[in-house]
Parts: sequence; C-alpha cells; structure tokens
Amino acid sequence: MLLNDRIFMGVSTKPEYLLLKYGNRHGLITGATGTGKTVTLQGLAEGFSRAGVPVFLADVKGDLGGMGAVGEQKDFLVARARQIGYDDWTNDKFPVIFWDLFGKQGHPVRATISEMGPLLLSRILNLNDTQEGVLNVAFKFADDNALLLLDLKDLRALLVEVESRSKELSATYGNVATATIGAVQRALLVLEQQGAGNFFGEKALEISDLMRIAPDGRGAVSVLAADQLMQSPRLYATFLLWMLSELFEQLPEVGDPAKPKLVFFFDEAHLLFDDAPKVLVDKVEQVVKLVRSKGVGVYFCTQNPIDIPDDVLSQLSNRVQHALRAYTPRDQKAVKVAADTFRANPDFSTGEVITQLAVGEALVSVLEDGGVPSVVQRTFIKPPSARVGPLTADERRAVISASPVGVGYDTPIDRESAYEVLGHKTVQKSTPAPAPAPSQSPWQQEPAPPSQYQPDPAPAPRGRSGSPPARQGSGPPPQRSRASNRESVTEAVVKSVARNVSGQLTRSLVRGILGSLTKSLR
Ligand SMILES: Nc1ncnc2c1ncn2[C@@H]1O[C@H](COP(=O)(O)OP(=O)(O)OP(=O)(O)O)[C@@H](O)[C@H]1O
Ligand SMILES: [Mg+2]
Repeated sequence: MLLNDRIFMGVSTKPEYLLLKYGNRHGLITGATGTGKTVTLQGLAEGFSRAGVPVFLADVKGDLGGMGAVGEQKDFLVARARQIGYDDWTNDKFPVIFWDLFGKQGHPVRATISEMGPLLLSRILNLNDTQEGVLNVAFKFADDNALLLLDLKDLRALLVEVESRSKELSATYGNVATATIGAVQRALLVLEQQGAGNFFGEKALEISDLMRIAPDGRGAVSVLAADQLMQSPRLYATFLLWMLSELFEQLPEVGDPAKPKLVFFFDEAHLLFDDAPKVLVDKVEQVVKLVRSKGVGVYFCTQNPIDIPDDVLSQLSNRVQHALRAYTPRDQKAVKVAADTFRANPDFSTGEVITQLAVGEALVSVLEDGGVPSVVQRTFIKPPSARVGPLTADERRAVISASPVGVGYDTPIDRESAYEVLGHKTVQKSTPAPAPAPSQSPWQQEPAPPSQYQPDPAPAPRGRSGSPPARQGSGPPPQRSRASNRESVTEAVVKSVARNVSGQLTRSLVRGILGSLTKSLR
C-alpha cells in the first residue's frame, strides 16, 4: 500500500491516498474531541517525512512528540491494521527536532521585534487602532533612524524615545499621544508577564532549519511544544502566522512541485481567527493562497470547519472530517457546512454519516489527478508507525541533545540595538556581543557529522541577510555565510556603529506582506 508518489491514508471501499503533487494544495482535519484528529495528523506527517518532505507541527497536547520514538504493537493499532488489510504496517520513528517558544521543551524559537513588525505585534499585544497607529509610528521612526529592534527592551526604549519627542514626531508622522504610548507600554508588560520576553531576540529562527533532511532521506519533523503556549493563545497564533509569512517571503516560487517543500500543520487553528480583525484575516487568506506556489502546504486542524473563515476554507483542498456531534443548532449548522463542502458520494448521505463515524474513522476527500476533489469516502484511517502518545522527559531530552540545530539556538545573543543606542547616545562604539557558536547551516561548507541532518539543498532561501543592518544599500543583500556567524555579528556591529555616526540608512527597510521585514529584496 506504500507508493512513492502518494501517502497512504486509510481504506474505504478502496485504499485512500493523498497525492504528494497536491500536498501543497492545503488541507483541513476536523472533528469533535477524541475522534482521531491527532492520529490522522500524525499519519500524514509520517507520510510526508517518509517521502522526504520536512514538516512543521504545533504540538498542542504534547502527544505528537511521540513521533520521535518507535511505535508499539498496541492492541487498538494492530486491530486497525488488520481491519484494513494494512500488511506493510511496521513500527518506526522519525527525525524529530523539538522547538519551544519558552526554550524549555525544545530549542528556543525566537524572532526579533523588527522581523515581527507592527501589524503582528499589535495583534499579540491586543492593541486598538489608535495604539496600533502609535506603534506604526514608532516602527517607522526606528526604520528611518536605523534603530535595530531585537528584543522587548529595544521596543521599550524606542517607545520612551518616541514619548519624549512626541511633539516633534507628531509633526512628521502624525499624532503620537503620550497616553497612548503608556497604554502600549502596559500591554508590553502583560506580554512579558506571560513569559514572552525570551521569545523576542536572537538568534532568530532560520526557516532553512525547518527544511532539513535527515541522513536517511526523511524530512525533519519539527515539533513546536505548544502546550504551555496555549495559555498565551494570541502569541501562539501570531507566531505561527509570522512563520507562514516568513516562508512566503523567503522561499522561491516553485509552482507545482512533485512534492511539497514543507508542510505546516496548524493545530487549534481556530485561535488564529478568534477575534481577529478583518485586516488580519485577509492577510491570512492572502498568505495561505500565495505560499502554495512556494511549495508549502498548510494543514489546519480544528474541531469545526466553521472555525475557519470561508475564504480560507475554500483553499483547503485535502479534507479529513472526523465525527461531529449534532446536539445544538450550532452543531447542526457545522455538520451542514462540513457536509456541503464535500463532493457527494451517491452511496451515502454525507451529513448523516458525519455524526455516525467511529473513532479513527473519517470522511476523506482529496485532490485527485486533474486537481479535482475526489468523491467523499468513508475511510478507516491507518495506524501510525511511531508512538501514539508523548515521549517521556528523558526521551525528549535525548532527542533534543542529539539535534542538529541546537548549537546555534540554545545560547541567546544580545548585540547592540535600539536599547543601547538610545540609552547611550554619546557612545559611538559598542562592545561587540559574544559571538555565538557556529551553527549548522545551509551555507556551511564543511561536511556535517553523520548524525546530523543535512539541510535540504533545493529550497535554500535567497538572500537571507539575517539582520536588518545588512538590508541597507540599494542592491540585494550579500549572500553571507551563516557558518561564519561570528563574522556576521561583528559585521553587523561595525555597520551599526557606522550608522550611528552617519545618521541614516540610505534606504528604508522593506516590510513584507504582514509588515515583517522582508529577508530578500526582489
Ligand atoms: N486511526 C486510528 N486507529 C486506531 N485508533 C485510533 C485511530 N485514531 C484515533 N484512535 C484512538 O482514539 C484516541 C484519540 O485520538 P486522537 O488523540 O487522535 O483524538 P483527537 O481528535 O485528536 O482528540 P482531541 O480533540 O481531544 O485532541 C487515540 O488515542 C486512539 O486510541
Ligand atoms: Mg488531538
């Protein structure tokens, strides 16, 4: 049942497959709690990894970490394999890399304030329009004055500066009320209390580190620890959205590749849209649409299809619908919406079957040859090969310490940025930050040790400059070797000092679709 150009999903009246060439046409996994969504997601993620496609998944309950351990012949899995005649079912494990915004359950994931940009930051901070306006002014001022915004203390220092010069800046940029700045400062404090302080800073996540291929040819499975993150749902949603926009900004156009370059699973996807302003929903829709031609597939996982706005929903071509309950009118509406999105099967009523599905059984419709949705099939989902359920703390530690990316991320970097520049205006020279240990990177020349995954050479992002100062000037940013991170930091400091002396960037920074800094100038 295992074929090269497709992922085996389960069996209806026939085996059901997801075609790899349509893996970037996005997908949706829905169903009530406990119906089998996570197991389905794991099965798909295993299939992509096996096919050499790196995947990124948010692990909301901690159970997807199990992909890093060989599965067992548990009764319910053996029974399912038998039931569907899945004779080549074997136990296995996958090349997992753990990430964690809080840096505890995996390598720390960071982004700089500059990279995040005012739109997403406003969303994380839950700012109103006026407050967002002030934040925009602050960013514009920072861009115009080449102030590097790396972490929260940079942003705070920037806001203090903007506040102290509010009259002058109001004349140039529009009204900057000091009371509004105070409100933004308070929102920052709340964010810090949620433990987000560590998230902003360097080394910022390199998208290429999510696109590694293990020595056995399998795609890396990046697992984001999201259990604790769920207590800061806004941070969670915004971070994943930021990642999506980074993928869009950095990856080259590939059209419709034979298999995706990366597949991104977004669990608890409703959080992305809960109370989201229309402008943000529009951006999500836009990014999801555009990222497809970069070879990136996005799979949303949520309880109800109605959690996802229609414009986004209509782009999710590969569908797995587990059981839904239909007790309340809202439930019934959800069942109807879910049923209506499928291409009907004359053998059964989609709406009726949705409420009758057993655990681990689902309605499946995927794109078939020609790019048309297949007739919906009532499908028993295959058992995964890796462990179903979490890793122990020891197992997790072992995976983390054997990881190919740890060296670069585990120690934070604090180089000269807005905080230092604004705090010590008379100081023209800064002390260079301690250089980070060299990281495994796509540009590394030396052969990597055999235990470490190779980054996939194909999708190497263009012109990743890594830090805002490198984006000055008129030409494309230099292709710099990240292997010589040491150089890049020193170089950045030198540029930063030079800029402090000479005043302004010759050209303002380029912000991308979500207001994040773009990594490649086109
Ligand atoms: N394909 C399957 N084959 C055999 N058993 C399954 C299958 N899918 C799910 N199960 C059983 O159902 C349990 C719950 O599945 P799962 O954790 O995937 O549900 P879920 O929909 O993700 O729930 P929640 O919304 O609570 O996260 C599994 O632990 C397993 O025992
Ligand atoms: Mg689940």
